[in-house]
Amino acid sequence: MQKKMDPSAVAYQKPQPTAMIPDILVGGALDLDGQPETWIPQAENVWFRPLLLSVSGGYYVNLLKVRKAGVLSRHRHSGPVHAFTLRGEWHYLEHDWIAREGDYAFEPPGETHTLVVPEHVEEMITLFHVTGGYTYVDPQGEALGYEDVFTKLDNVIAHYEATGLGREKAEALIR
Ligand SMILES: [Fe+2]
Repeated sequence: MQKKMDPSAVAYQKPQPTAMIPDILVGGALDLDGQPETWIPQAENVWFRPLLLSVSGGYYVNLLKVRKAGVLSRHRHSGPVHAFTLRGEWHYLEHDWIAREGDYAFEPPGETHTLVVPEHVEEMITLFHVTGGYTYVDPQGEALGYEDVFTKLDNVIAHYEATGLGREKAEALIR
């Protein structure tokens, strides 16, 4: 007699939907002190580790690492941001809250804010899920520059090519 299989343990048997894009697994994504080659310099003492570069969805997911105190940037978001603080702390001049290790913050589309890392913080690392783009602005809102998934992608490709990791490693994160 054949043993009856537990249906809850059976993989989905049907095809996935037409045009579905492939999944991604990034090993050690939250290994904050390992894989130094995956941290891409963004400014002096500022790096990011890309996890997903969604050119089809117009968003990206990355870790931001900062080893300096003070104002990092002032910018205006066109889309929502989800931020999970993994190490250290940071805040915005426009809010009275402080994002500390283990905290989650939502940044609404349209908001302009000024990111600050306090003096006593040696290292801040935060996972940012950034939809749309953001515009760097002066205190009056005048545009100074911009960032989005495409500028991030260019940075990643340039860095991986320069360090010998190769363009393929960057392309593996594109969806
Ligand atoms: Fe922001």
